[in-house]
Amino acid sequence: MEVIMKKVKIALLGLGTVGKGIFNILKTNNEEITKRAGYDIEIAKILVRDKNKNRDIDVDENIITTNFEEVLYDESIDIIVEVIGGLQPAYEYVISALKNKKHVVTANKLLIASKGDELISIANEEGVSLYYEASVAGGIPIIHSIKESLTANKIEEIIGIMNGTTNYILSKMTEEGLSYETALKEAQAKGYAEADPTSDVGGYDALYKLRILTSLAFGCSVDIDKIYREGIESIKPIDIDYAKEFGFTIKLLSMVKEKSGALEMRVHPTMIPSTHPLANVNDSFNAIFVKGNAVGELMYYGRGAGELPTGSAVVGDIISILRNGLNNSIIAKKEDDCSNIEVSSMEKTKSEYYIRLSVKDEPGVLSKVSTILGENDVSIFSVIQKGKSKEFVPLVFVTHKTYEGNIKKSIDSIKKLPVVNKIESLIRVENLK
Ligand SMILES: NC(=O)c1ccc[n+]([C@@H]2O[C@H](COP(=O)([O-])OP(=O)(O)OC[C@H]3O[C@@H](n4cnc5c(N)ncnc54)[C@H](OP(=O)(O)O)[C@@H]3O)[C@@H](O)[C@H]2O)c1
Repeated sequence: MEVIMKKVKIALLGLGTVGKGIFNILKTNNEEITKRAGYDIEIAKILVRDKNKNRDIDVDENIITTNFEEVLYDESIDIIVEVIGGLQPAYEYVISALKNKKHVVTANKLLIASKGDELISIANEEGVSLYYEASVAGGIPIIHSIKESLTANKIEEIIGIMNGTTNYILSKMTEEGLSYETALKEAQAKGYAEADPTSDVGGYDALYKLRILTSLAFGCSVDIDKIYREGIESIKPIDIDYAKEFGFTIKLLSMVKEKSGALEMRVHPTMIPSTHPLANVNDSFNAIFVKGNAVGELMYYGRGAGELPTGSAVVGDIISILRNGLNNSIIAKKEDDCSNIEVSSMEKTKSEYYIRLSVKDEPGVLSKVSTILGENDVSIFSVIQKGKSKEFVPLVFVTHKTYEGNIKKSIDSIKKLPVVNKIESLIRVENLK
């Protein structure tokens, strides 16, 4: 007996890196996807900005449009996939799609991190689904894991390398001794970094992803402005070299931990022991370490970006919607807002600290610096002092664990010492086991 396969029409908003990945996966894996989804998926419309662009892809020109309304009011389309990026017009398009009873899949971390709660409410009101697996760590199925597979757990912490561009740059600086500027140029030449790299190197992209995972894992939506963020722009090769001497590797980490009823959330360059698995995640790879009170420690590792890995997550979401049934919606839980849960201020967070000073090359400098640290309850764990016969020499040390507030007070006093030329760098150290 001949099986008549159901057909479903979808639309892509965007045919850039991710859009092409989705297009190619649907074509290459058509047979498997059709079997698994129970539907033959047809891309009926594709919205782009410039219709005349050379796309380097075998796509029927008749389905390409620059008019969103052609997509929105096409009743034969059941699922809209937003891979435009940025806040506008993606936000406006996704709201209109949901209100027109279209299921939506998006890869847009900025959109979900800043407007996710509102979009989830609209999807629930309209009885349609909103999926966003690709918005965090590209191809790594971390959202599904937290939402489904780990729901038996109380999540205690999430620590991750969530941005491939910065990880590529830091890996090049560590392995090849490149400067930040040279490594960034290389990342741009390879297509890992955008012409304006601010979102990646400034830690914003990693922050959006942390915000999304926090809302899923801890059940509360945190105001993005409350999350501490610092990028990698000021990391110098000399700091990477000293890190190696102390047995550390520098990574841009995104972290959230629940401590005494408060959430500690931060994104910043961090020295971690070179023996820790996260220290060995290199190039553009991502890795996310999750600790649950039942499952223990888990690490997810894979490609956090790129045409096919990101397309894989998006197409997985499309298949989930189809398996669930087009007339059903996955009721997305709207997270409580965290008005009752405190996001700890950085002053109250505890860490170890790497501090590099440039000081006069004369006796007694270390004792003056350590006196100030002692007065602020900071003790030194390890010191490196090198380079004689220059006017200023580096004085580098790592502290024991202490409050950030104590470090700030110490730094304010240390920089006033006449023997101190400059505070060259301050990098947090997490002694991950
Ligand atoms: N790239 C990755 O590896 C990756 C990984 C994870 C998540 N994401 C997310 O996926 C989304 C898409 O990223 P991408 O790298 O694929 O971006 P991209 O390569 O810049 O592609 C964007 C696409 O959207 C279209 N577009 C832009 N503005 C538009 C507008 N106003 N109206 C209609 N179409 C418009 C562009 O049209 P034209 O082609 O005509 O210019 C292009 O086809 C972003 O949210 C990004 O954060 C990307």
